[in-house]
Amino acid sequence: DKGNYAHFMLKEIFEQPIVVAQTLQSYVRPFEGQVALPDFGFDLASINRVTIVACGTSYYAGLVAKYWFEQFARVPVDIDVASEFRYREPVLEKGGLSLFISQSGETADTLAALRHAKSEGQTIAVVVNVPTSSMAREADLMLPTHAGPEIGVASTKAFTCQLAVLAALATNLARDKGRLTADEEKEIVAHLQEAPQALNDALAHDDDIAAMAHLIVPARDVLYLGRGPDYPMALEGALKLKEISYIHAEGYAAGEMKHGPIALIDDNVPVIVLAPSGPLFEKTVSNMQEVRARGGKIVLISDAHGIAEAGEGCMATIEMPQVHPLIAPLVYAVPVQLLAYHVAVLKGTDVDQPRNLAKSVTVE
Ligand code: F6R
Repeated sequence: DKGNYAHFMLKEIFEQPIVVAQTLQSYVRPFEGQVALPDFGFDLASINRVTIVACGTSYYAGLVAKYWFEQFARVPVDIDVASEFRYREPVLEKGGLSLFISQSGETADTLAALRHAKSEGQTIAVVVNVPTSSMAREADLMLPTHAGPEIGVASTKAFTCQLAVLAALATNLARDKGRLTADEEKEIVAHLQEAPQALNDALAHDDDIAAMAHLIVPARDVLYLGRGPDYPMALEGALKLKEISYIHAEGYAAGEMKHGPIALIDDNVPVIVLAPSGPLFEKTVSNMQEVRARGGKIVLISDAHGIAEAGEGCMATIEMPQVHPLIAPLVYAVPVQLLAYHVAVLKGTDVDQPRNLAKSVTVE
């Protein structure tokens, strides 16, 4: 039932504050200021390498997690799309943890990769939204997202719930590796707890996004730029736009622009820049200025502070709440989802059932 929403996708985008809160509830103890994973008789402190495998949007959640695992826990992370993983004959060290991320828990390539890793003696962890799925059953450690059934083919709420679980996992790993003091853990938990309200604040800008979506509709190509953990969010923004509006879009690490894609820039190629305030803001903005100097039309997605500093001369700006860099990827998922949604609605495409796509891809 879509309730009062025109599409399942829009309903699911708006459910994010609630389902992320629900998901966090099973991974944090707010009063103790600690994260807590299900017990599974495997010592996270012994982990020296994590291998992450997933497809599509779930893969982008994994890319964000790579930044977190390495930054907080100082554990090296390998990450692959599932269709590449087995065929490159990955080196899986004894005692390693392999982590599979999947909304459905049934994606054929990801499941085959899981079985391969298992046969190589890896400990298997999964982040899945369907607790009865094949991946859930075959895992040693099942970390459920509590997004509820996701009907829209484009993944939205499952993705932000995956990020919530992965942030908790990264924090737990960091603690068990002795990389976090109790106070630092408390602080991270407090920031995670701010995510649902920040998602609400982000959703409050839906009208602004609907009002500027017409600027993107005529484009044949769109570029999304971001840095650090917001680089995977640029990839996700481009994927959402491609799959439901059929506009060709690419996500790039902001610093890679000048190594090629900047040749595409003219006033017909909108460039959407994800630049939350934080340690990477100035660098991202200087890449944005390189685009502007070549006549590029920019949509800046940032907070009030960032927009005040760099918004001048942009074709449009989308304001997000001011958040800690840790939860920025969750919050910035909202505007990229909503922008794809409103562009698709204006173009009249089938938002919930995009052409050629299936909700669960069960062939390799
Ligand atoms: C994009 C999308 C797909 C899925 C991918 C993996 O919006 O929905 O890219 O993320 O097919 O599916 P799961 O997570 O079920 O393994």
